[in-house]
Amino acid sequence: MTDFGRVGVLLGGRSSEREISLMSGRAVLEALRGRGIDAHPFDPYLQSLTELERSGFKRVFIALHGRFGEDGTIQGVLETLRIPYTGSGVQASAVAIDKLVTKRLWVWAGIPTPAWRELEADSDFDPVARDLGGPVVVKPRTEGSTIGITKVASNARGELAHAFTEARRYDSRVFAEELVVGRELTCAILGGGAGAEALPLIEIRAPEGNYDYQNKYFKDDTQYLCPAPIDPALAQRIQRVCVQAYTVVGARGWGRVDVMLKPRPDGDQPLLLELNTSPGMTGHSLVPMAARARGMDFADLVLRILSEATLEVT
Ligand SMILES: Nc1ncnc2c1ncn2[C@@H]1O[C@H](COP(=O)(O)OP(=O)(O)O)[C@@H](O)[C@H]1O
Ligand SMILES: [Mg+2]
Repeated sequence: MTDFGRVGVLLGGRSSEREISLMSGRAVLEALRGRGIDAHPFDPYLQSLTELERSGFKRVFIALHGRFGEDGTIQGVLETLRIPYTGSGVQASAVAIDKLVTKRLWVWAGIPTPAWRELEADSDFDPVARDLGGPVVVKPRTEGSTIGITKVASNARGELAHAFTEARRYDSRVFAEELVVGRELTCAILGGGAGAEALPLIEIRAPEGNYDYQNKYFKDDTQYLCPAPIDPALAQRIQRVCVQAYTVVGARGWGRVDVMLKPRPDGDQPLLLELNTSPGMTGHSLVPMAARARGMDFADLVLRILSEATLEVT
């Protein structure tokens, strides 16, 4: 086995996804230690970056989610300290954390994503629902774990303004997106550049189609089907577009693209929601599930991701 030297596992952090990151990080740490790696936890919320500098880590596994973990900031610190790290670099992380910047890039590259409108406090909300052709989803541009997201069936009683206020608690920048009523899929991706490859798709069937924070992490009544039971030709097409969506952002190492399938008379159309550059690695998590369908257990996956740790600026 490769000798990775002293390895840091970054976990916790100070984003709203701290609790999830603690679960991810502990699972990663345990898997690494189980494979004889000299792995140590590092929580940037509790520990100073000077400690990181003095840690002697030869590389780090980033198991942080959200701001200050998935958004390019900690990646920038690691670049500066010259400590190779897992996953995407500064630039791709900073792009992908912002769902709207990502969508703009995707549209430019011809990658399908639901239609959207940016919302401002003084926006006239009525035309938004009309423009988007019906029910919408209101989201902060930069949160994860379905935090601050509201589905709005109609604006009959000013529901959009409420959803806007809720999303604004998490980010000053908010947008509304066409609500896609259809099957939900996610595509895990490993590697980078020409070597990026999709793992088998997962279909997510949440109670009443609500794949929210509770259903994601704390309940057991969401069904996950992997490989997703869809037509193989369609599955391949979705995997291809997800890999393209990942590479166009410049992601590397690992990631996960969330997808809705919009039913149309001429067949289901995949619409891409977002790219996660530091996805969950908990017992419930999706990338490990997809890896398992490929014959890779949790520790194999962690080692594969760790083996590709690198610096962006060499
Ligand atoms: N446009 C949409 N149409 C239907 N459902 C959506 C849409 N956007 C988000 N959702 C639902 O909300 C969940 C979270 O949205 P997502 O954009 O992936 O943000 P995050 O996972 O960062 O919170 C999705 O997994 C999906 O269940
Ligand atoms: Mg998501």
